[in-house]
Amino acid sequence: MTTHAYQKCINPDCAATFDLLQVLSKCPNCGNLVDVQYEWDELDVPESLQWFEKRWADRRNPLDFSGVWRFRELIPFPRQADVLTIGEGQTMLKQSDGLAREIGLAPGSLFLQYEGLNLSGSFKDNGMTAAFTHAKMTGAKTAACASTGNTSASMACFAAATGLMEPIIFVGSGKIAYGKLSQALDFGGKTVQIEGDFDDAMARVLETCEQTGMYLMNTLNPFRLEGQKAIMFRVLEGLGWEPPDWIVVPGGNLGNSSAFGKAFMELHRLGLINRVPRVAIINSTGADTLSRLVNQEGLRWNGGHVDDGVIERFYKQMDAENRRANTIASAIEINRPVNLKKALRTLDFTGGVVRAVPDEAILDAKALVGRCGIGCEPASAASVAGTKLLREEGVISANDRVACVLTGHQLKDPNATVNYHSLPPEQIPEKLGRYGVRSAAYQNRPVAAANDLDSILKVIERE
Ligand code: F0G
Repeated sequence: MTTHAYQKCINPDCAATFDLLQVLSKCPNCGNLVDVQYEWDELDVPESLQWFEKRWADRRNPLDFSGVWRFRELIPFPRQADVLTIGEGQTMLKQSDGLAREIGLAPGSLFLQYEGLNLSGSFKDNGMTAAFTHAKMTGAKTAACASTGNTSASMACFAAATGLMEPIIFVGSGKIAYGKLSQALDFGGKTVQIEGDFDDAMARVLETCEQTGMYLMNTLNPFRLEGQKAIMFRVLEGLGWEPPDWIVVPGGNLGNSSAFGKAFMELHRLGLINRVPRVAIINSTGADTLSRLVNQEGLRWNGGHVDDGVIERFYKQMDAENRRANTIASAIEINRPVNLKKALRTLDFTGGVVRAVPDEAILDAKALVGRCGIGCEPASAASVAGTKLLREEGVISANDRVACVLTGHQLKDPNATVNYHSLPPEQIPEKLGRYGVRSAAYQNRPVAAANDLDSILKVIERE
């Protein structure tokens, strides 16, 4: 095993370091988040990102086939023999001029990084391969997570495919989309539906892991984030290694945005990029903790000296008002994002911004993505709705090159899609309950016809 990887607390006043094989979800000394760190000077790192193209030729080697491990020199914590891969990361960056036109960007400016193509249908597989690899290195037997659905689908998929760990899943009852729940069940995950929401499930899984020693697969586990860096490596790959001006990503538990910032910090430090894209993190207005903390409370990374008092007061007020996360984008229906501080670091390093977009805008953006022939789940479309907003604000310019991360597949949440397209607006609140969204600018309603050719032709002509 490489001895050049270790773990380190992100709090500069603590900066405690820990062995690679310790299982940590926070710094045991001060309670802050931990990072995986490398002694880069001791490691063999390619001199240019082009070097990785030589791996394209050898798709029979599972490590070269993987969209994560073909960048293994940039994720150098395991020995090759320790890597657990199921062929994750076979995703693509797609230029979309049609969508660019709709949201006010010049042709050739908008790219969609479509992570729905992963085996479990979301970006989570990128991180899961790294966390499973670390879990195997530590000898873990049981894997646990709290989830809004995709983490659990991915974890159960990896557990089933590798046969190495028993998967235990904590979800908020009624809080996860059916496509995701169906995956967890089909892959054989023991699924515990907790009376509560994701924030409750997250608190309970942490207690359970602490008491039982189960291996935590959420992004408090820094190894998850190591794998998720690869999403950015593939965006760069798709753009011929030329960094875009913007990366736009939905923000839930803030694992992705944290991982992306770390990827750019490391690539920059290693001299593999000379320009850093700005990262825009997009909340839903129904789950907008980061947006409020940054834009209203002025919370900043501040060289790692984050003002804990501001965060504490914010959560206290949230509890006093009994404000729970509530959005149709159930994947990001999270009010206590565990990676908050690392996301602040990303914003600081990349000159990033945070915005919140309402459910109506998310669903309209989702329908627009569908019209472009890709399709994504609601949370993913927050990136497109956020790009549109930032374009309207003039923060993003028409000629800026923008890569939106589409985090999950269209089929993850078919209820949201069918409801958006089929219900008359006045029926939406009662019929849909928490999916009570009235706007449907791109609605495409199914039409009824009698079972005879004449009626069918009439309906087709009328439409
Ligand atoms: N998009 C999708 C489709 C997701 O499933 C998630 C998170 C996010 C965006 C937000 O990403 O947490 O890195 O900011 N889903 C987690 C889950 C919370 O349990 O599946 P993040």
